[in-house]
Amino acid sequence: MLFDTHAHLNATQFNEDVEQVIERARAEGVSHIVVVGFDRPTIDRAMELVEQYSFIYAAVGWHPVDAIHMTDEDLGMIERLAAHPKVVALGEMGLDYYWDQSPKEVQKEVFRKQIRLAKKVKLPIIIHNRDATADIIDILREENAGEVGGVMHCFSGSIEVARQCIDMNFYISFGGPVTFKNAKKPKEVAKEIPLDRLLIETDCPYLTPHPFRGKRNEPSYVKYVAEAIAELKGLSFEEVAQKTSDNAKRLFGII
Ligand code: NI
Repeated sequence: MLFDTHAHLNATQFNEDVEQVIERARAEGVSHIVVVGFDRPTIDRAMELVEQYSFIYAAVGWHPVDAIHMTDEDLGMIERLAAHPKVVALGEMGLDYYWDQSPKEVQKEVFRKQIRLAKKVKLPIIIHNRDATADIIDILREENAGEVGGVMHCFSGSIEVARQCIDMNFYISFGGPVTFKNAKKPKEVAKEIPLDRLLIETDCPYLTPHPFRGKRNEPSYVKYVAEAIAELKGLSFEEVAQKTSDNAKRLFGII
C-alpha cells in the first residue's frame, strides 16, 4: 500500500498511455494518487481523472511560475472545485525564484490569495518552493497557514527548515531526489525527521528516481522512494509504505 501524494498524470507526457501507467501503479501496490493541477488545462484534466478512477484524488491550485496569468475567474474556479468531494488540497502553490517568469511581488500575492482561500474552504495546501525558502516561511507564518497545514512538496531544504515547517503543521514530502547517490541533504533530512511527518511522492513525469533517472517518471516508481527512506531510517519497506500512507490519509481527510 503506497500513496503517491504528488503526481502529474494530467501532464501531456501521459496523453498516450495514462491507462497503462495507472495499471502499472496498481500492480506495484499504489493504493492512492493525488493528481496535482496548477493551471487551467491541468486542473481540468485532474478533474477528469478523479471521475474515472476511485483511487485518484485531486489538488487544485496555481503554480508560481505562471502566477502572472492567474485571474479572479481562475481563483473563483479553484474555490468552486474545492467543494468537490475528491478535491483534497489546494495547490500546488508557492514561490519559484529559479525560473523567475513571474515577478516576485506577483508570485507572493497569488500565493497569499491561495492560502487565504484554503483557510476559507478548510483544505490543506501543497507548497512548491524553488530557491525561495525564506520568503515561503515568512508568508506561511504571516498568513497563519498552519491553521490548515499541508505539505512541503519535494523537499530539498535543511533539517532546520524541515523542523520549522513541521512546527507550522506541515508534512515533509520526498520524491526521486532522495534516491540519488549525490543527494546529501534530502537523505539527511529523511533520516532525521520522524516518520509520522513524512510523505512520499513522484512528482511524475519529472524527478525520476534511481534506477530510472533520466526517463519519464510514473507513480509505480514511488516504491523506490519508500525503499530509500526505509534504508536511511533502518525500517522495513512495509512500515514506511504503511505510515506514509496513513499520514497522507490523515492530511487529506481520506478514510
Ligand atoms: Ni508538481
